Amino acid sequence: MRVVVTGGAGFIGANLVRTLLARPEVDQVRVVDDLSTGSKANLAGTGAVLLEGSILEPALLDEAFTGADAVVHLAALPSVPRSVADPLASHHANATGTLEVLEAARRAGGPYVAAASSSSVYGANRELPKRETMRTAPMSPYAVSKLATEAYLAAYHHCYGLGVLPLRFFNVFGPLQPAGHAYAAVVHADPVNLAFGTRISLLELVGELESVLGHPVEVAHTEPRPGDVRDSQADNSRLRELFPDIRPVPLREGLERTAEWFRTL
Ligand SMILES: NC(=O)c1ccc[n+]([C@@H]2O[C@H](COP(=O)([O-])OP(=O)(O)OC[C@H]3O[C@@H](n4cnc5c(N)ncnc54)[C@H](O)[C@@H]3O)[C@@H](O)[C@H]2O)c1
Repeated sequence: MRVVVTGGAGFIGANLVRTLLARPEVDQVRVVDDLSTGSKANLAGTGAVLLEGSILEPALLDEAFTGADAVVHLAALPSVPRSVADPLASHHANATGTLEVLEAARRAGGPYVAAASSSSVYGANRELPKRETMRTAPMSPYAVSKLATEAYLAAYHHCYGLGVLPLRFFNVFGPLQPAGHAYAAVVHADPVNLAFGTRISLLELVGELESVLGHPVEVAHTEPRPGDVRDSQADNSRLRELFPDIRPVPLREGLERTAEWFRTL
């Protein structure tokens, strides 16, 4: 099986590339990445083939998608503040970029396309936990671009029969995540929350982090950033239904593994 990961040189992508290449059924992973926030170093030693360039370049996508069975589309400008500062750049990379990826998938004969959306699409809707059927209320250009990502996937499923899976990532952390900052035989044109239903306050998280690090961390209390969502918690029943064997890494273990990775830098 050949899998393409757009944005595969980024934090989530490079972790996914490792997971994919550890599976016996995956023969090759190609990464399309312009290295705007990702890096070649994230892919060192993985064996993934890197096609360096933008998802806004159709010829590069055609090269990457030839013979591919599945595409995991992660490439995006992932920052809310950046989208507030430069909405058009976010729109080009995230919304137009998704459309280019879907068009290339169509030209390539229709590989399965899973794509990263975001919990930010729930935005100003304060109801918890978040269920996929709830009203979306984006508060930032980034969230709008992710809602467009989902909507384009659904449209390509309905118009062209493309197998799609829009996943709403909640707060992701772990090794390879810069300090500043699946595929499956299912077709789902409705979005799926990719999260495990837990919730923790920032101050509780700071306490947990201090306990992992063994020393106090400096805390600065500031005004919320424009476009940021205050509270987030997922209903994960749809995810459990689709992937009953999926197991989250417990928070404490995840923090320990992340801290360990930072110590190696
Ligand atoms: N990290 C999180 O908590 C989180 C939460 C919700 C959604 N997401 C989504 O998950 C995906 C991956 O995020 P991440 O945290 O790994 O971010 P990241 O910045 O580490 O990865 C994004 C990758 O996309 C690449 N990229 C950006 N624009 C590109 C373009 N035009 N063409 C080709 N490559 C391009 C970057 O170089 C980078 O390698 C993104 O779509 C993001 O919006 C992340």
